[in-house]
Amino acid sequence: MKLDMNKVESFAGQVVTDISAAFSGVMTNIGHKLGLYKAMAGAGPLTPKELALKTGTHPRYVQEWLNNQVAGQYVTYDSDTETYHLPDEHVPVLADEDSPVFLVPALDVASSLWLDEGKVMDVFRSGKGIAWSEHHHRLFCGSEALFRPGYKAHLSAEWIRSLDGVEDKLMAGAKVADVGCGHGASTIVMAQEFPESTFYGFDSHAKSIEIAKERAREAGVEANTRFMVATSKNYEENGFDLICFMDCLHDMGDPVGAARHARAALNGDGSVLLVEPAAGDSLESNINPVSRLYYAASTAVCTPCSLSQEVGLALGAQAGEKRLSEVMGEAGFKKTRRTAETPFNIILDVRAA
Ligand SMILES: C[S@@+](CC[C@H](N)C(=O)[O-])C[C@H]1O[C@@H](n2cnc3c(N)ncnc32)[C@H](O)[C@@H]1O
Repeated sequence: MKLDMNKVESFAGQVVTDISAAFSGVMTNIGHKLGLYKAMAGAGPLTPKELALKTGTHPRYVQEWLNNQVAGQYVTYDSDTETYHLPDEHVPVLADEDSPVFLVPALDVASSLWLDEGKVMDVFRSGKGIAWSEHHHRLFCGSEALFRPGYKAHLSAEWIRSLDGVEDKLMAGAKVADVGCGHGASTIVMAQEFPESTFYGFDSHAKSIEIAKERAREAGVEANTRFMVATSKNYEENGFDLICFMDCLHDMGDPVGAARHARAALNGDGSVLLVEPAAGDSLESNINPVSRLYYAASTAVCTPCSLSQEVGLALGAQAGEKRLSEVMGEAGFKKTRRTAETPFNIILDVRAA
């Protein structure tokens, strides 16, 4: 077999870029955790010594870290003054935890995939699942920190507004469920925005519910939130005006059963807000960096989570709108309509009537 060596070299270059990103991801996380990016934000050009002084770190380490940041084009370097500068446009992505494009927590999720690599290899061989609770805790806080800015930016202002008539109900005082709520990031954002409404957060992971309660206390929304350990098929409350599934339906073993349970727990004119990872309806339409990331998370986390539960449908994180509509249809919902999207999510309004 005669290989086209240009193609070999070009592909090797592609993989070197990926490996370099994997090494540098640790540097990005360190930059966040030690406050290096925050100290550089808006500070203009700095020497390593100045940055080290601002952050209580050692200048030699800071210099080496900065050189990695320059090589990756996260930071610019002026060789005349030997100073380093974080461009203003990079601040929302690396230093502002409230920005909707603050992406650093994704690296905590990535670290949990590495830490759980052995478990994932085991289930490749056995075909068994891995429960959400069995993962390294960096997954839980990483997902929360990654998703929260998007919820703050889009959930009330765009997604809820895109559902016919729902915003008015929530302003007046409605009953809302957030199923698979995790640490309650979305529940708390909604509770702050709509103080007249009551928000029930359900999750099968007891530790997440404990943390969600703490977060609600810190955010001052204890009065209009209730967090309970429950699966998507056994919470007992009903009479909901809105039931949300935020980035979690595909993690469930029985998404059809979960949707059926939601239908029974909804008021007649109630609706489901289904937020799922952005995806096209075919693999060919998912050849891009965001889908690549989601397929990796899906292989190591979402698919095993579903396979650890009864039914084990294993929808995967890239199910796409068509497949998700079929799931909701099987559960008896009449209409699923895409009402909004971001580079990371699709937003579906699901109605029984
Ligand atoms: C990717 S996390 C999303 C958490 C949260 N919705 C958010 O956006 O931050 C998926 C969550 O679904 C929960 N989950 C998975 N299967 C579940 C089930 N059958 N019933 C209830 N919660 C479930 C997990 O425990 C986990 O907290």
